[in-house]
Amino acid sequence: MDKYVIAGRKRLEGSVKISGAKNSTLPILAACLLSQGTCILEDIPHIEDVRVMKDVLEHLGCRVRWDMNRMEVDAGGMKRTEASDALARKMRASNLVLGPLLGRFGSARIYAPGGCNIGDRPMDQHIKGLKLMGVEIVEKGGFIDARVKKLRGADIHLDMPSVGATENLMMAAALADGTTLLRNAAREPEIVDLQNFLNAMGAKIKGAGLDVIRIDGVKKLGEAEHTVIPDRIEAGTYMVAAAITHGDVEICNVIPEHLEPVMAKLREAGAMVSVDGDRIRVKAEGRLNAVDVRTLPYPGFPTDMQPQMMALLATAEGTSVISESIFDRRYQHVDELRRMGVKVKLEGNVAVIHGVEVLDGAFVEATDLRAGAALVLAGLMAEDATIIENISHIDRGYENLDLKFRGLGARITRISKA
Ligand code: UD1
Repeated sequence: MDKYVIAGRKRLEGSVKISGAKNSTLPILAACLLSQGTCILEDIPHIEDVRVMKDVLEHLGCRVRWDMNRMEVDAGGMKRTEASDALARKMRASNLVLGPLLGRFGSARIYAPGGCNIGDRPMDQHIKGLKLMGVEIVEKGGFIDARVKKLRGADIHLDMPSVGATENLMMAAALADGTTLLRNAAREPEIVDLQNFLNAMGAKIKGAGLDVIRIDGVKKLGEAEHTVIPDRIEAGTYMVAAAITHGDVEICNVIPEHLEPVMAKLREAGAMVSVDGDRIRVKAEGRLNAVDVRTLPYPGFPTDMQPQMMALLATAEGTSVISESIFDRRYQHVDELRRMGVKVKLEGNVAVIHGVEVLDGAFVEATDLRAGAALVLAGLMAEDATIIENISHIDRGYENLDLKFRGLGARITRISKA
């Protein structure tokens, strides 16, 4: 297994270009299943989760070409409606094919495991919505078998604004008979991106970004071209990197509005954050101050930035409190960060962090994607070397992470077992 070796205590400077968003790319690739023809997508990041989604589509019979950051998906001739369970075990977001398969073929079989490293991740909201649209569902042994003669529009109120349920239901409803109203829908920017792509294919959807989305079903969806939005979590990770190394970094190709919650927290902690068009500059002249953070659905502070923020607060002056309110086991990074000298107490979903001036390099292990990102950030400011094992987790969501950090002056090397 590959590892990263980081020699820390290097101030980061310069500019870094952000890639297309993982969490936009995955549902948009699933949405290609709804098309009778070929869809062309730009700014597709070369990351492991996208490779898995490409395999999922190919297993279902799509023809996929991926050249640089452009992907062409031809779902015209595909007929298979049983997704690969081996691929679902690799990436739970493959459950996003459920809605499109039902929309296009009226039948789907997917594997949906119940929990993962960051918490329980049931699909009850996806299933509740689909049942209201007339789908018969049998759940057995981790598999979901779903069948419907013709989807019909429905009035659906989600118990919580689940991102995945909102996306699956939007995609199913796009080809349903009649109108679907999705209430208490997720408002993440990736939902708006999915709406824009579906509408480019001929769907009639409005309201994404608000808490009620209206989908007027259409008979069929065709070809479309689309550029995915920049990855706000990748951008946030580099913003924290600038702050934790007391550096000065320009983060390019971002939609600053999507990063408001992260910018606000960094400013509150004392960093200088400025916006110029599609660029954000983050500068820190010394240790930041402690701040409290609560993760919430968008536009609240993103749970996908919580581990990285913890790494930053571990080196801030004073005591910070983090409350994780989205996932129930999202503190896997804590034990690893403790090896690096981070002082943190956990009680339920609350972490109390006493900032220290300097972290120590250590042998640590990435336990999930964002936990891995937090370890990289801690390693960048630690005394001595940090060795991060199991970086396949980091590969799931960061394109060229070591190259991008080296471009900012970091001393980070990837050691390949091969
Ligand atoms: C997506 C993101 C992930 C991010 C998360 C929250 C993708 C591919 N992944 O994941 O990076 O961390 O949003 O912003 O976009 N829940 C239920 N029942 C359901 C569905 C969800 O109880 O049917 C709960 C989950 O257990 C979790 C919370 O709702 O506690 C949020 O989950 P959800 O918004 O669905 O996250 P994902 O779509 O899986």
